[in-house]
Amino acid sequence: MEIRPLISPEDIEAKLAEMGRQITEDYAGKELLLVGVLRGAFMVMADLARHIDLPCEFDFMAISSYGASTQTSGVVRILKDLDEEIEGRDVLIVEDIIDSGLTLNYLIKSLRVRKPASLEIAALLLKEGIQRVPIDVRYVAFPIGPEFVVGYGLDYAGKYRNLPYVGVMGGDVG
Ligand code: IMP
Ligand code: MG
Repeated sequence: MEIRPLISPEDIEAKLAEMGRQITEDYAGKELLLVGVLRGAFMVMADLARHIDLPCEFDFMAISSYGASTQTSGVVRILKDLDEEIEGRDVLIVEDIIDSGLTLNYLIKSLRVRKPASLEIAALLLKEGIQRVPIDVRYVAFPIGPEFVVGYGLDYAGKYRNLPYVGVMGGDVG
């Protein structure tokens, strides 16, 4: 399978540095609980966190993925819940990519009832204009088109997560 590079490691690094500075500024004087959505967000979580200059704790949730399909199923399942209580805490969800928005919409709803002091989203990628539910994403590194992308944590059928760049599946697409 051919993969056409879309976003370079250098551009990712620069954008995450900028995002980290913004988060540091926005949450000045506060402590942050970063919630990574497994598995795709593991890389952006690690790299973004290194640019956040605040007292941080880390937790992870695991959500069911599409399996081997590149289409959203709309079916969301929590495979692993948070270990931390989030009531009264400033929570920042870290996501790899927002496509239909269904995953995050579900996540946000299920976390909001636990009464965090604040609940915001930081995403590496946002597929522009194709969300099936309105979603308020506070931090976005790269708005992209509707193409299916892999690399930097993102998979196709479980593979390609280790690519240091983000690329588009299938050389002739796009
Ligand atoms: P949503 O619920 O449609 O917003 O999809 C969110 C999840 O689907 C992401 O966290 C990814 O795990 C996966 N996903 C969506 N689009 C892509 C893509 O282009 N490449 C790889 N995974 C994707
Ligand atoms: Mg994901």
